Amino acid sequence: MADITARRNAASDAALAIDRVSHRFGDLHVLADVSLRVDRGELVCLVGPSGCGKTTLLRLAAGLEDVQAGSISIAGHRVAGEGAALSAEARGIGFVFQDYALFPHLDVATNVAFGLAGRDLPSRARRVAEMLRQVGMPDHGSAFPHELSGGQQQRVALARALAPEPRLLLLDEPFSGLDVRLRERIRDDTLHVLKRSGAATLMVTHDPEEAMFMADRLIVLNKGRIEQDGPPEEIYARPASAFVATMFGQANEARGQVRGGRVDTPFGPVVAPAGVGEATCVQVLVRPEALRLMDAGDDPRCPAKVIAARLLGRSSWVHLCLGPDASEPSGALELEGGHRHVHARVPGRFLPPEGSILNVEIDPSQVFIFPAGDTR
Ligand SMILES: Nc1ncnc2c1ncn2[C@@H]1O[C@H](COP(=O)(O)OP(=O)(O)O)[C@@H](O)[C@H]1O
Ligand SMILES: [Mg+2]
Repeated sequence: MADITARRNAASDAALAIDRVSHRFGDLHVLADVSLRVDRGELVCLVGPSGCGKTTLLRLAAGLEDVQAGSISIAGHRVAGEGAALSAEARGIGFVFQDYALFPHLDVATNVAFGLAGRDLPSRARRVAEMLRQVGMPDHGSAFPHELSGGQQQRVALARALAPEPRLLLLDEPFSGLDVRLRERIRDDTLHVLKRSGAATLMVTHDPEEAMFMADRLIVLNKGRIEQDGPPEEIYARPASAFVATMFGQANEARGQVRGGRVDTPFGPVVAPAGVGEATCVQVLVRPEALRLMDAGDDPRCPAKVIAARLLGRSSWVHLCLGPDASEPSGALELEGGHRHVHARVPGRFLPPEGSILNVEIDPSQVFIFPAGDTR
């Protein structure tokens, strides 16, 4: 009981608490019983594939969409659901949406000053200058949005959202309009600006690596349901489902059955996790980075023939064919379906010649076993 009370009190303290929210558009169920919280000063990334309901959840939190079921609280005050309905303007939230949406006819300083109407002129000007300095654009106050690059517009949008010192900031795919190189720089800048501001932030992205880069905590959404909520390292190292395990990239996949507490895989037997009982049919996911490739020696335990190897930059990607006949010389490179064609990701430059034979070992901490049928 004490535990539950403690959690309730903590929830009422959260910068944002979404409690059992479900949402539908006509017959389309977009969100199913979603609960989450963002604490003060915390940067939480909501990550999931396109169409899974991320923007809808953000719009509900913002007050741009009416809550149909469940409730939403900001800083301990209910703002939507169960009779409450505080307007978007009254929620004290900053937003940055996908398209930045600066006012095109207003210069940068006036855009940033937009939410500061209640302050006197000198304090407004001070705050605008301070925000433009923070986002690295101190000299752009008199520029117009069309004179700025995409990255500069994004930074102005962030300055505008942060200027009124919101307790909560909602960001919807804020970097998606930027090309890859610029995106890396702008999200780095944004991370530091957000951390300095101390605002609680809920940021939506469909890019798991971007989420890992930004987040104190990740919430994985799939088909309108939360699959997992935790620190990035936990999501990566202890995925709760096959969906979460493969979110960071394609994994080598095999099927099997638990026998004697183990599952036979093409890489050899692996220990079944606690809670997956004897005789259960399972799906085994082996991350490409779990494969260790070594000299085959005389009697390799898990021989694999190199089909192709490519340098990707920071790592190398090796296509392999596994199996008892892998060590036999064969003229034709047959690319088999199923589990025998596997991929390894090796740090740095590792480009074994095509047709060479290697021995494969796997790092058990990067192997994930789920009951088969858990294909969410
Ligand atoms: N106003 C709306 N009316 C009808 N369907 C909508 C509306 N907004 C979103 N949807 C649908 O709801 C689902 C979730 O959309 P959205 O929340 O935008 O997903 P995400 O942001 O994760 O890509 C999609 O199938 C989308 O087409
Ligand atoms: Mg969206």
